[in-house]
Amino acid sequence: MWRRSSCLLGLPLPRNASVSRRRGESLCLFNGCSSDSRLKVVDALLGAVTWEQEVRVQGWVRAVRAQKEITFLNINDGSSLQSLQIVARPDLDIRGITFGSAVEIWGKLVRSPHKKQSTELLADKIRLVGACNPVDLPFKIKERHSLEYIRQFPHLRCKTNVFSSLLRIRSEAFAAFHSFFKNNGFIHIHTPIITSNDCEGAGELFQIEPASKTAEKQNVNFFDVPSFLTVSGQLHLEVMTGAFTQIYTFGPTFRAENSQTRRHLAEFYMVEAELAFTESLKDIMEVIEKLFKTATSYILSKRPDDIELFHKYVAPRQKGRLEQMMKNSFQVLSYTEAIDILQRSMETFKFEPKWGCDLQTEHESYLVEHCGNIPVFVVNYPYDIKPFYARDNQDGPQHTVAAVDLLVPGIGELCGGSLREERLDLLQSRLKQHGLKGTYQWYEELRLFGSVPHGGFGLGFERYLQCILGVENIKDVIPFPRFSHSCLL
Ligand code: 4AD
Ligand code: MG
Repeated sequence: MWRRSSCLLGLPLPRNASVSRRRGESLCLFNGCSSDSRLKVVDALLGAVTWEQEVRVQGWVRAVRAQKEITFLNINDGSSLQSLQIVARPDLDIRGITFGSAVEIWGKLVRSPHKKQSTELLADKIRLVGACNPVDLPFKIKERHSLEYIRQFPHLRCKTNVFSSLLRIRSEAFAAFHSFFKNNGFIHIHTPIITSNDCEGAGELFQIEPASKTAEKQNVNFFDVPSFLTVSGQLHLEVMTGAFTQIYTFGPTFRAENSQTRRHLAEFYMVEAELAFTESLKDIMEVIEKLFKTATSYILSKRPDDIELFHKYVAPRQKGRLEQMMKNSFQVLSYTEAIDILQRSMETFKFEPKWGCDLQTEHESYLVEHCGNIPVFVVNYPYDIKPFYARDNQDGPQHTVAAVDLLVPGIGELCGGSLREERLDLLQSRLKQHGLKGTYQWYEELRLFGSVPHGGFGLGFERYLQCILGVENIKDVIPFPRFSHSCLL
């Protein structure tokens, strides 16, 4: 039941928001104060006030339909995908009100005689708050604009149906991750954004210094040591495993990667968890799978209309793909098995799959398809390609570490994690090999004071959103994407 009019991007709106409350059951006003008559569109649609009650609605015009006597306006305030229909009598002054303008409307909520919606607002007064020239606005009322097109307007794309849906889903997903950890006994830690370490050892750091420095301070670091934007909160979480058994962090991370792919950003959000008293990658994989499935169910139940918009109009096959991911157990392959599968395949890869080399995106896609398009954990990677902190499996002749990546359909790597090397002698010799002797004294010292086996993982938040929604390009799931050669706004 989708309506074709009043859409941006040509993406139709659902006919009726699911009315789950009884009319007047709960009054949810803008500022939580019941003496104020301001009402959110979602609450008007969900029946938060009784019929005929005087209310005030504020928002932006998504459609104007002038009929002989009456003008219909659709008003959206970002609270739901569906807009509220306003019925304006001919005596009301609606001069200057166009598609895109900001308005404030006083009136009464009534049962709509139209099949298309259950509620409409009979306007008594309409005030133009902010005019909009629809000719200059880069989005046209009935045109279908692609995600690539709207990406050119980071200051305006929140006005489109599709991007406002994305932002609501993103907000709900953020809450879903926090609620998963809270419900499972994890403590949230604010790990720092400014740090003096390169956790991943990949050298993809943004160094920070004050923008203006006096001549004599030119060669002096602000913090006395080189400092960077964090690439991962892992090492700081590991500190906390000295006193907490389960912790997590969820914040922005930064990587000076020069790649402009559809799955890399210079600033992205990562959810990271660390478990103490953990001796098996199984524990970590269990948390990852549970996190993925619990958070996804939560978001699907909270934002069905917004998700439907993506699954119907942006990535029509994604709904089925996601159902597959949700109902099946994630698969597990060892890195060695994965290489074997790739080498035996008939596929011609651009990069030859070789034991000891990192898996490329094309290899990840092949492996996921090979496993029936179900997320797959790849475990036990070569010792030489993982960072210093990964726990040595002390095996041979193919020497591996207890590291795990989760590969998902359409994206490839979604999570990376490992058991951490808690044995001081092995850690010290590993640091020496990496040329890091003396750099991580505090990290080594953690192993002296009640150290326990531990491990954890990081999940890329934007890649997660791409994965559930079927969005091709990572730049379309973050409000303000930052990537090499682009830092708009
Ligand atoms: O695999 P990564 O590099 O793992 C770590 O940083 C670990 N220290 C995490 C931990 O164990 N606590 O990054 C984790 C995830 C990746 O799997 C990917 O989903 C995402 O972060 N990611 C990126 N997402 C967008 N743009 C980039 N440039 C990304 N780099 C990594
Ligand atoms: Mg990784």
